[in-house]
Amino acid sequence: MTKATTFLYDCDTGIDDAMTLLYLASLVQAGEAELVGVGTVHGNVDPLTGALNTLRVLEAAGITEGVPVAVGATRPMAQDVHYALDWHGTDGLGDTHLPAPAGRPVTGSAAAQIVRLARSRPGELTLLATGPLTNLGAALLLDDALPSLIREVVIMGGAFDHPGNITTHAEANIWHDPEAADLVFAADWPMILVPLDATHPTAVHDDWLDRLAAHDAPVARFAAKILKFYEEAYTPTLKRRGAVIHDALAAMLAVDPELGEYVHRCVRVELRGELTRGTTVWDARSLPAEDTRRPVQVAVGSDVPAFQERLLTALLSL
Ligand code: RIB
Ligand code: CA
Repeated sequence: MTKATTFLYDCDTGIDDAMTLLYLASLVQAGEAELVGVGTVHGNVDPLTGALNTLRVLEAAGITEGVPVAVGATRPMAQDVHYALDWHGTDGLGDTHLPAPAGRPVTGSAAAQIVRLARSRPGELTLLATGPLTNLGAALLLDDALPSLIREVVIMGGAFDHPGNITTHAEANIWHDPEAADLVFAADWPMILVPLDATHPTAVHDDWLDRLAAHDAPVARFAAKILKFYEEAYTPTLKRRGAVIHDALAAMLAVDPELGEYVHRCVRVELRGELTRGTTVWDARSLPAEDTRRPVQVAVGSDVPAFQERLLTALLSL
């Protein structure tokens, strides 16, 4: 068995982040992963709502202690805050308005938690980010040594040979805080970036959704309940019943990179374009790299049936 992955998770718990938490919980229960902490960030919802949702999801999966949940940045570095309530509901979990969690967020910011945990477990942590990158950017500003302390960064974000989903060219996580994203892409740490190019083709449809809904167990019912809103939001875009569980693909590629197909490129973020701010830009030229940035492994595809089957199996296993 490959060595268990030790995750530190930064997210904006909304619905696909919630599915990712359930996937991580299934790995933890199987002894295939450790989850040392979660930080939340503005994005789908405000970070306090995201933190309470994270606690709700972890508790639903039976994780009630040992995973500190820290509230992170309430706004981006250099623009107004925006939420994605149309896609995730006013509560971030599909307007299910679930009971309050038993647990509470810890004191201290998500960025400070990233630095503290990275220093306590040098070289061990996979930093998984599936929301705007404000906490990661702030953590880099807090501690110059951070890139050398993190084993790998895996990010759901960006769009290259694929339309944007929040503007014509920009993907939501990057668009919500372009300055933070560019700081993260400029840092010298090993990185896998999982853009819409890879996540959109993994959309789940009738068979997958019906198999989840048919499984009569508490966590499966919980997952199906919060996914309903997201499925109804996605169906017009997909032109058939379905949903794209973007964030879970990033987590799965962190555990099993062999599932993905990658190109190795330097990535920057457009910060000034009137129409293109927040767009991710890679250097696809075959010329010798002029860019001083560390190239990033950009996922451009994945084994979709394997992803869908493993995610469903994980949700049904809890
Ligand atoms: O663009 C998709 C991303 O934006 C996902 O992480 C989703 O949760 C939202 O945060
Ligand atoms: Ca997210």
